[in-house]
Amino acid sequence: MTLAKTLKKTLAIRPPHPTVAEIDLAAFRQNLRWVRDRIGPQRALLTVVKANAYGHGIIPISQAAVSENIQGLGVAFVEEGIQIRRAGITEPILVMAGFLPEEAEGFLKHRLTPVISHPDQLDPLKRLAQKASRPIGIHLKIDTGMGRLGLLERELGPFIERARAVKKIEILGLMSHFADDELTDCRSAEDQIDCFEKVQRTIESLGLKIPLLHMSNSAAIVGLKRAWFNLVRPGIVLYGYAPSSSAKDSIPIKPVMTLKTRIIHLKRVPAGTPISYGRTFTTRRESLIAVLPIGYADGYSRAWSNRGQVLIDGQRVPVIGRVCMDMTVVDVTDLPTVRIGAETVLIGAQGTETLWADALARQLGTIPYEILCAVSHRVPRLYREGVEPS
Ligand SMILES: Cc1ncc(COP(=O)(O)O)c(C=O)c1O
Repeated sequence: MTLAKTLKKTLAIRPPHPTVAEIDLAAFRQNLRWVRDRIGPQRALLTVVKANAYGHGIIPISQAAVSENIQGLGVAFVEEGIQIRRAGITEPILVMAGFLPEEAEGFLKHRLTPVISHPDQLDPLKRLAQKASRPIGIHLKIDTGMGRLGLLERELGPFIERARAVKKIEILGLMSHFADDELTDCRSAEDQIDCFEKVQRTIESLGLKIPLLHMSNSAAIVGLKRAWFNLVRPGIVLYGYAPSSSAKDSIPIKPVMTLKTRIIHLKRVPAGTPISYGRTFTTRRESLIAVLPIGYADGYSRAWSNRGQVLIDGQRVPVIGRVCMDMTVVDVTDLPTVRIGAETVLIGAQGTETLWADALARQLGTIPYEILCAVSHRVPRLYREGVEPS
């Protein structure tokens, strides 16, 4: 299925709904091209589209990436890879977050590439290889200091011996992941690269040359050229956010998602009116309150209760009372011309005001990744650009 067809279908099946996540595919492409220009044509680019493309929609984003000639897509789980294959995408898909033995069949059936991060994961692949008509490509993940997934240095030699003994298993890549995700202090990252390079030399001394070497997430793409090797795996920069606040002003990227809703209910209430569950807010003056049809089930965190702000008529207005599952109340007393149906921005810009995910994340003590991924499946995604006829 082409991107244009997917977009048409996506739009067609959605009834009008006041809440929408607008996805600016032109911004996504621009961010991707920035990464491409930075790393140069000699390196491969694997676009990380796990977690519904960080909330942006795994299929349209994968299709947009493919149309920009990327070399592969990175997902966390087998199921995500299958979803992409079912949309007709044929590019390599790397399944990066591990798998259970019973999921291994999916690699063969859907031509997905597993990342092997534990010696025991070879056994289900061995069984698959016996019935495979073509080689199963794998990448090996080394734990160079993340302390999560990954083969330990000492496990590597014996693992490689075993893997090489299996016909139809091909080791295509060697990878690792940084523990310091913002890379604000590169020392621990440099240690991880030292370890990775040592492992690579050990592998070469065993007479094996692994074609693809990769460690770089967005932070390393921005600030640690030594980690680029011959493939990079950007995620957050493609969606328009810098991996750290120190990198924010130096990279020309643009946020891709805007989260909007519209006022569905307006009501004037006297001073002393309690608002929403638990009556945690009471109006101090006669107030005009607006109800927004968005709540924590849409990914607008309950942590914004009595704390968040949204943009209406180009102004910031406060969230009052608790955020509910489907609704949020805001105080619009100071907006003279507010009306039912008024556009309300929860992530994005309106007039000269902005509420981008990085600023929101700082306020909630989290990271923009979580703000974006939280936007739930209930929220229709509306794709701008690429809505051209097929
Ligand atoms: C293995 C792996 N590589 C690359 C990425 C992309 O990271 P970022 O979004 O920071 O660029 C992730 C994301 O968590 C990941 O898990």
